[in-house]
Amino acid sequence: MDLLSTQANDYLNNLVPPRPAEMQTMEAQAEKDGFPIIGPACGQVCYQVARMLGATKIYEMGSGYGYSTAWFAYAVRQNGGGAVHHVVWDEQLSQQARAHLGALGYEDIVHYTVGEAVDAISQAEGPFDIVFCDIDKHAYPEAIEAAYAKLRMGGALLIDNMLWGGRILDESDQSQNTQAIREATGMLVSNDRWITTILPIRDGLSISYKVK
Ligand SMILES: C[S@@+](CC[C@H](N)C(=O)[O-])C[C@H]1O[C@@H](n2cnc3c(N)ncnc32)[C@H](O)[C@@H]1O
Repeated sequence: MDLLSTQANDYLNNLVPPRPAEMQTMEAQAEKDGFPIIGPACGQVCYQVARMLGATKIYEMGSGYGYSTAWFAYAVRQNGGGAVHHVVWDEQLSQQARAHLGALGYEDIVHYTVGEAVDAISQAEGPFDIVFCDIDKHAYPEAIEAAYAKLRMGGALLIDNMLWGGRILDESDQSQNTQAIREATGMLVSNDRWITTILPIRDGLSISYKVK
């Protein structure tokens, strides 16, 4: 369940400019398979932040079959070129991403890693302008620490599912994933390292600006 009504989410998605046919195919695939991509409105936010920061080095943690990657690669292309790291631990999804992102013409921008994303970013050569996180929720707190270490000052950390289908508001929900998102939220809003806002689009997208 999203906290925004279907009507409001549809309205916001319909404000997003038309995407290439390949991205529409990826959106249709998500709809058909129930695969949790960020969708057009959150994709547009990712694209906009990347353009605003002039990002040329972006690291994704939990990239699926490359839909969110396509938004970042589009921004990096328009920022003059650079690198977007696609990271997922499923070989099959990495292969699908190569096909989609190749069809979109991003072979020169996207770099692929098959592996655990917190380990992978910890070994990556930063600094990055943007880190995007969409991995299993129990790992969000450690992902934030790892991302902080690799972001440049003035860089942005974007995290999906920060409202977690409204479970975040249900105090009786003490499950590991929900508790981890609560802990992650505290790390981002109660720490002078970050300036953070959670946008209630779709399942909640946080934007944190690294200031210290
Ligand atoms: C929500 S989906 C990603 C969707 C993608 N960000 C998009 O919007 O197109 C998360 C993906 O990351 C994978 N994943 C989850 N935790 C991970 C981790 N710790 N390291 C690597 N991959 C992970 C999942 O198996 C899944 O394929």
